[in-house]
Amino acid sequence: MSTNDYIVIEQSTGLHGTVHLYGAKNAVLVIIASLLLTKGKSRLTNVPASDDVLNMIQLLENLGAQIFFYPDEHLLEVDTSTVTKWQVNPEIMKKMRASILVMGPLLARFGRADIAAPGGCVIGSRPIDYHLKNFKKMGVTLDEAGDYISARADLLHAHRIVLEYPSVGATENILMAATLTPGITTIINAALEPEVMDLIAVLAKMGAKISIEAPATVHIEGVGALQPIEHAIIADRLEAGALLLAAAITGGTIAIPQALAYTMDVFLLKLEEMGHEILVGPGGLGVTLKATKEPKAVSFKTGPYPSFPTDLQAPMMAALTLAQGTSIVEETVFENRLVHVRELQKMGAQIKVEHNKATITGIDHLYGASVIACDIRASCALVLAGLVAQGSTIMTGIHHWTRGYDGLENKLSLLGGSIKMYADQEQTSGVAYGKPEMSSVEHITKQ
Ligand code: UD1
Repeated sequence: MSTNDYIVIEQSTGLHGTVHLYGAKNAVLVIIASLLLTKGKSRLTNVPASDDVLNMIQLLENLGAQIFFYPDEHLLEVDTSTVTKWQVNPEIMKKMRASILVMGPLLARFGRADIAAPGGCVIGSRPIDYHLKNFKKMGVTLDEAGDYISARADLLHAHRIVLEYPSVGATENILMAATLTPGITTIINAALEPEVMDLIAVLAKMGAKISIEAPATVHIEGVGALQPIEHAIIADRLEAGALLLAAAITGGTIAIPQALAYTMDVFLLKLEEMGHEILVGPGGLGVTLKATKEPKAVSFKTGPYPSFPTDLQAPMMAALTLAQGTSIVEETVFENRLVHVRELQKMGAQIKVEHNKATITGIDHLYGASVIACDIRASCALVLAGLVAQGSTIMTGIHHWTRGYDGLENKLSLLGGSIKMYADQEQTSGVAYGKPEMSSVEHITKQ
């Protein structure tokens, strides 16, 4: 994806239809990393072909894994019996923050991991100190030189770990390392996001012994070896959120049969408070949204699960720019995650920012503009705003969009959205696996 690539969005009314969800990017990334704990061939289904996933595939392949990816079938086969390296390619590592998640599995498997500082969305300082200081407590020595870290542990040992904040990545990394560490490791104040729970389900299938104690403690009893698995990745609550908001903002109706309501309760509550009608299927499976024509302002604060997810803060803000009244949005997870405000303001949005708090005064119209996506979820917010803005919106920085979403522009377009990507496909990821990707047409039935 080059800097000259862009997406054009035109005003579109009433997005309408039934749409299929792919698996959660944030679950599949860590689950691919967890396969390093096994020696054999695993199969993952419902895998989105977003660029971050392709980068993680490339990272494992570089370590020696044999990988077949069938993007049209969303099927990934990974054979980790051939992995012999623990030195992570720094160039791949710098492409995304989730690459830090191979550190725990590599330490558990080889007792060593050579890594570089991970990259990813610039939404705050995003340190990795919780990962590193707790690995040290498990017996890891770190040799740090600039951006490079050489981690060594002759023998990992179990520890009672207290996280000062329920970090998703630190919980996942420690969890994975602990599965093969003798004794019982305990993580207090663990993150229990749906994606972490999907990882725990995978580790349990591999043979790991993990139990959860309320409110947020995880116990892991180390075992001698873990086995390859087959697993269908949990539905992406963030893709679901984007699609529900697309219907909400354009005054449409959308049904998402795979959406898991329990993974986004507070988000759904806020959509209802705005006046949208939300219907949840039996057992919490499947969500339908019928948009109100007169959305009302709502306020919320982001937080660890089950609070309002930080990853839906920017997309929700796009919808609030047109809601009647004043909304207050407080970002508490990342310290620099209101950068999309500047771009929404270019489209006419009335938003004032003070520290980590945005006050949004609802207006009648947004106007198309040239905007820049500065992180994955900001790109989603700008696309949503573009769908309702008068005139054309041209969004650059679309490598963020393709890092986070697999063909979401096609899904929006099939639902009636006017959105078109102008990109040099050759450069999209530099990685090609298995068969060429089909369009997602067959996944969507218009009502
Ligand atoms: C994951 C998600 C990301 C989501 C975030 C919060 C993936 C691939 N990414 O990111 O989409 O927005 O959870 O739900 O799953 N922190 C530290 N030190 C650390 C680790 C984290 O200070 O060592 C801070 C971060 O800067 C941030 C907060 O803790 O302010 C939460 O970060 P964390 O939960 O670790 O997010 P990620 O795992 O990076």
